[in-house]
Amino acid sequence: MSIRAGFIGCGGHAYRNVYPCLKYADVDLIATCDLVEGRAVEFARTFGALRSYADHHEMLEKEELDAVFVVTGYDEQNKPLYPPLAIDSMRAGCHVWIEKPPASSVEEVEQMMAVEAETDRFVLVGIKKAFFPTIQRMKEITEREAFGGISSIYLKYPQYLPDEDEKQLATSNRMRGFLDHIVHPGSIIDHICGKIAHLSYERSPNGAGVVSMKFASGATGVLHLTCGRAGTSPLERVEVVGHGANVIVDNGVKLTYYRPGSRGPGGYGKATNFVGDDDTAPIYWEPEWSLGQLYNKQIFLLGYAFEVQEFADCVRENRKPTRGSLESARELMKLYEAFHHPPGQIIPINST
Ligand SMILES: NC(=O)c1ccc[n+]([C@@H]2O[C@H](COP(=O)([O-])OP(=O)(O)OC[C@H]3O[C@@H](n4cnc5c(N)ncnc54)[C@H](O)[C@@H]3O)[C@@H](O)[C@H]2O)c1
Repeated sequence: MSIRAGFIGCGGHAYRNVYPCLKYADVDLIATCDLVEGRAVEFARTFGALRSYADHHEMLEKEELDAVFVVTGYDEQNKPLYPPLAIDSMRAGCHVWIEKPPASSVEEVEQMMAVEAETDRFVLVGIKKAFFPTIQRMKEITEREAFGGISSIYLKYPQYLPDEDEKQLATSNRMRGFLDHIVHPGSIIDHICGKIAHLSYERSPNGAGVVSMKFASGATGVLHLTCGRAGTSPLERVEVVGHGANVIVDNGVKLTYYRPGSRGPGGYGKATNFVGDDDTAPIYWEPEWSLGQLYNKQIFLLGYAFEVQEFADCVRENRKPTRGSLESARELMKLYEAFHHPPGQIIPINST
């Protein structure tokens, strides 16, 4: 059964990465909406919507919709526009899919949560990295008995960390850039490791930095903010270590699972062959770039199609999402707000 959807926002990201996913999730696009005259009309023609609007209130009033997608961005104060638009949409009876960053504070996320409860609708936040095929598999591997539970995580991400002067102006472009991107590694951390108990960080003069995290589970983690890396370099690497096993996602698409096992026979100083048995050998996955398969489309590789599919399934089945939920969004905002504190301190995130 297809769901009837409206779409607020007809900009660059929506055009490239979100509207194209709708057809893979059985979403019937009924209406588009954008403040800029002509954009909604053009998008309706391109993506097959029946009607277009320049005001979301009018769209919500006139159309009978199950769901609304919102891909808008920021207001003049550099605050994400998602909380008020999601609240209006829920109060009009719709479930809502919003882009990241969901908000600029824990408080705003909690306001959306209150309206979820009041209206019995839900919000799913498009935290794409938790929907990457490689990260989905990484998560599943870390939950296997053989992995032995997570002991630590390492993430590399090329984030600029604003300095103390830049942080004073919460609405600066530097803080907006930080908010815009910190949710990316943050969503992997939250999805894989759960709640952070506390963290501390240090900043290099160029805005690079290192964040040390302790999780509520007892595991530890390092987030390496690699501002200063070459523009020619891949952006990311994630490694999760269990007990006798570890799993790595490199560049978002290469997954290596080092299963429990050992190399060739013989003890230290005696083993002559580094190659071990097949049944404990590392497992390695990477895309092939030959076939016209859906899995080779960037909207699948980068998780967009999966986050839209998950949302549409949740609407059809009337179940609240777990991945991309507002509970997760609140953890992302706690992470963001932690950096309002200066470096060199232990900053509580979730006290036990
Ligand atoms: N997940 C990702 O990989 C990814 C990548 C790029 C951008 N984004 C996010 O996507 C969002 C949009 O980014 P963009 O670069 O496409 O911005 P954009 O400025 O190109 O598009 C935003 C559109 O929303 C419209 N809009 C704003 N307020 C509106 C309102 N109240 N009603 C109707 N239309 C409204 C604007 O007129 C504009 O056309 C941002 O939140 C950004 O962080 C996510």
